[in-house]
Amino acid sequence: MTVIAVFNQKGGVGKTTIAANLAAAIAKNGVEPLVIDLDPQAHLTALWQQRPKSPASISSFYKGQSSLLDLAVSLNDGIRFIPAHLELARVDVIPSRQQANLRRLKQAIEAEMLEQSGIPIIIDCSPALGILSFSALFAADLVLIPVAAEYLALNGAQILSRTLAGLEKLSGPKERRYLINRYIPGRGTVENVTEELENHFPGQVLKARIREHESLVEAIGWGADIFSFDPNAAASDDFSYLLDELLESGQLVLPHR
Ligand SMILES: Nc1ncnc2c1ncn2[C@@H]1O[C@H](COP(=O)(O)OP(=O)(O)OP(=O)(O)O)[C@@H](O)[C@H]1O
Ligand SMILES: [Mg+2]
Repeated sequence: MTVIAVFNQKGGVGKTTIAANLAAAIAKNGVEPLVIDLDPQAHLTALWQQRPKSPASISSFYKGQSSLLDLAVSLNDGIRFIPAHLELARVDVIPSRQQANLRRLKQAIEAEMLEQSGIPIIIDCSPALGILSFSALFAADLVLIPVAAEYLALNGAQILSRTLAGLEKLSGPKERRYLINRYIPGRGTVENVTEELENHFPGQVLKARIREHESLVEAIGWGADIFSFDPNAAASDDFSYLLDELLESGQLVLPHR
């Protein structure tokens, strides 16, 4: 099993797009991933047209009122999904529970035997460095960091790298991989940012890149992932290549079918 937290404290870099389409790529491979929307903005929940009341969302897990699996709903395209609700924002502002909440997700993944079941778990984090994101990072085997190839991307990546180093003192080492998103081959700024990242984080920048694709935006407009929207789109190739790279490097392990 692999727990992947898709995280960057910078907003709008493609976390939700990448979490949704990576999950779809896994489902297309015949394995049903569990996807958790851990963002109070609940973008993924809206994208997948779920409208849970607060008790049926991940909020109730953080209140200690539900197990993870009780909250998971099966979507048509072979994905199990735990939706979010705006009320989740409260978790980040209740200091008294922060110690418990930091470990809650990891402990539940262990206690609910999700490790033995082998199903991959993908967590769509919010762009906040609060306890919710920390709990996802704490539970993660791999931190997948989408980086939009633009000015200040390196600055954001360095802040994140220092934050992760702090968390690792509690959690132990975390694999991390940077994923260049909205890549435009040959464009000067994009190539410079990519090179800078590779220099600063050798071995941690994935070869797979998600190019700038209008089809990804269109698919979102239809509430679909790219594989069901247009399996022949070039964006589908990017996500298939990403999945292959994660599998081949052993950063993602899928159960045998
Ligand atoms: N590769 C891409 N090509 C074209 N558009 C993209 C691409 N990746 C993301 N986008 C668009 O960029 C916008 C932000 O993407 P997304 O919502 O996935 O980012 P996010 O990091 O989850 O944002 P937030 O921090 O608010 O959660 C969306 O409109 C999305 O459609
Ligand atoms: Mg998002």
